[in-house]
Amino acid sequence: MLEKVTISGVELLLSEPAQVDMEWVGNDDLINQLKAAWMIVDKDDLPLNPRILGKPGVGKTTLGYAAGKRLGKDVYMFQCTMDTRPEDLLISPVIASGNKIAYVASSLVSAMVKGGICLLDEGNRMSEKSWASLAPLMDKRRYVESIIAGIRIYADPEFRLCVTMNADSSTYEIPEYIQSRLQPKILIEFPNKVDELKILKYNLPFASEEILEYCVDFLQNAHVHDEPYTVRDGINIIRYYIKSRLMNKQNQDILEKKTFENASIQVLEEAALKYLPGNYEEFLKEQKETISFKIFKNIEEVNDYYDEFVKKPDKDSNG
Ligand SMILES: Nc1ncnc2c1ncn2[C@@H]1O[C@H](COP(=O)(O)OP(=O)(O)OP(=O)(O)O)[C@@H](O)[C@H]1O
Ligand SMILES: [Mg+2]
Repeated sequence: MLEKVTISGVELLLSEPAQVDMEWVGNDDLINQLKAAWMIVDKDDLPLNPRILGKPGVGKTTLGYAAGKRLGKDVYMFQCTMDTRPEDLLISPVIASGNKIAYVASSLVSAMVKGGICLLDEGNRMSEKSWASLAPLMDKRRYVESIIAGIRIYADPEFRLCVTMNADSSTYEIPEYIQSRLQPKILIEFPNKVDELKILKYNLPFASEEILEYCVDFLQNAHVHDEPYTVRDGINIIRYYIKSRLMNKQNQDILEKKTFENASIQVLEEAALKYLPGNYEEFLKEQKETISFKIFKNIEEVNDYYDEFVKKPDKDSNG
């Protein structure tokens, strides 16, 4: 049964907070950046509305959720899309029993009322019109206005907001006045090897050490070249690898490169194979050969180089 509250004479049905098994593993500095942004240091102070940025699959949603849970708060998640309308973010009317209209509060408004944390996930997918309805919430006013229910809703002092954003092209440009309210920026970069191994282990406690190590080396090699392959891809590759092995009644703990390669192609692409341990050393060697060149100081050096390495030996021209 959904909880009910009455605001300015209008009864609202509240949404439930998210309950998922998502822990943040590794870099605690990022959790602390979020906690700092949400902190209040004086009675006249306001919490900030941090923006979590990073490539798809680096852990943005996980970070926001886990930071909220570590503060002992309920976390309400709102998935933003290109079709999210201002009222979807606030209050939606539904037909209740007896053909009466009931008002359902979004997860954002429910978090505001209950003093929880709202994670606006993939906020950059949302249009300017929808963002505009949140402008007063993100400054000193700390309220939203629902046109449909005809009420103004003030946020509980404990309410906190954060937004995750992807740097991908299928999204709207967020207007400057909104960007300035979504600060600070918290950037998740690729984890180091130790942390990435911990993340894989946490998500795949049933995978063998050999497989995990092999996968983390692969991911780390790809990170050096700034490929868009993330820990999520690593998790998916290992999951699929283990399933494929078991399907063929083979030992899931043993690393068999061909099956791992196939899983990598099916999860990512053929071009990813060069980063697999074993292939990578060969790839680096080839790269070195193609980029090695010599800078000549003067024309004499060019002639000497030509005589020594380019011109055919004399015996050839004689014979
Ligand atoms: N530090 C971490 N601790 C635990 N799990 C992590 C961590 N980083 C990433 N993951 C795992 O990686 C996967 C992807 O994480 P998540 O969904 O949070 O990424 P995202 O950046 O929000 O992706 P998208 O941009 O596609 O929304 C999840 O399975 C999550 O469990
Ligand atoms: Mg996400």
